[in-house]
Amino acid sequence: MSDHIQIERHGAVQIIRMNRPDKKNALTRAMYTTMTKAIVDGDVDASIRAHVFFGVPGAFSSGNDLQDFMAFATTGNMGSEVIDFLIALVNAKKPLLAGVDGLAIGVGTTIHFHCDLTFATPQSYFKTPFVDLGLVPEAGSSLLGPVLMGHQRAFAFLAMGEGLHAVEAKEAGLVYKLVDTEELESTVLSVAAEIAAKPPEAMQISRDLLRMPREDVVERIKLEAKFFAERLQSEEARGALMAFLTRKKG
Ligand code: COA
Repeated sequence: MSDHIQIERHGAVQIIRMNRPDKKNALTRAMYTTMTKAIVDGDVDASIRAHVFFGVPGAFSSGNDLQDFMAFATTGNMGSEVIDFLIALVNAKKPLLAGVDGLAIGVGTTIHFHCDLTFATPQSYFKTPFVDLGLVPEAGSSLLGPVLMGHQRAFAFLAMGEGLHAVEAKEAGLVYKLVDTEELESTVLSVAAEIAAKPPEAMQISRDLLRMPREDVVERIKLEAKFFAERLQSEEARGALMAFLTRKKG
């Protein structure tokens, strides 16, 4: 369990808050484990009707902790925490919402392919620098990205690592609505409460009908993970990770 994830309740809404501001909410293995447990436990708790992800002001998440990636690259052991989390996202039975302010990098971006509604402040920025890190897209984004935004935009975003400002992310369908910073949390919580007040069984079936079949997404996540694990051991990835971890800040 991780102190960097806070689980809160707002009526029938479970809030999963990433809270590691000094590292811009880079996600460690322990943070993934805590988030996975919250989703799985929340799904069997009838008093919870929706899950909401929040970050901290200025950082939704800077993605996977690059120190952990370096450890994977060195030891060859990826662990199961990341994949367990991604599969929990796909298998989540209740609506997933997110409120983004600021940076959303790597999995901090691809998580939104699994969210039913993502709200973002105008200064939010979404980016997936997978290829620049010698890596490949993850979290099923290689399957869900082209469906959501078309092949060319998905290529620019997921393969070229071209960032999307909030307005562009909304235009691409990754963000549902833009909200002023001071209204972000209250807006997301009020929409989540609105969802929570609807008949839960009909909501669950409707959501399932709208989503791509879970088995297809899980299969793609596993395929991506196979390449991802191989790539982490590559010279390209080790060089890029080392460059970040040893950079001198001005
Ligand atoms: N993993 C580990 N540490 C990270 C991190 C990550 N993904 N992202 C940020 N940090 C750490 C920085 O090393 C720094 O730590 P320090 O203060 O001990 O030196 C701290 O968080 C603040 O980051 P900093 O780079 O100083 O802030 P910034 O506002 O200038 O830039 C980012 C923020 C997120 C743009 C930049 O840190 C970055 O590019 N991070 C890597 C993102 C990434 O590649 N994620 C994986 C995608 S697959």
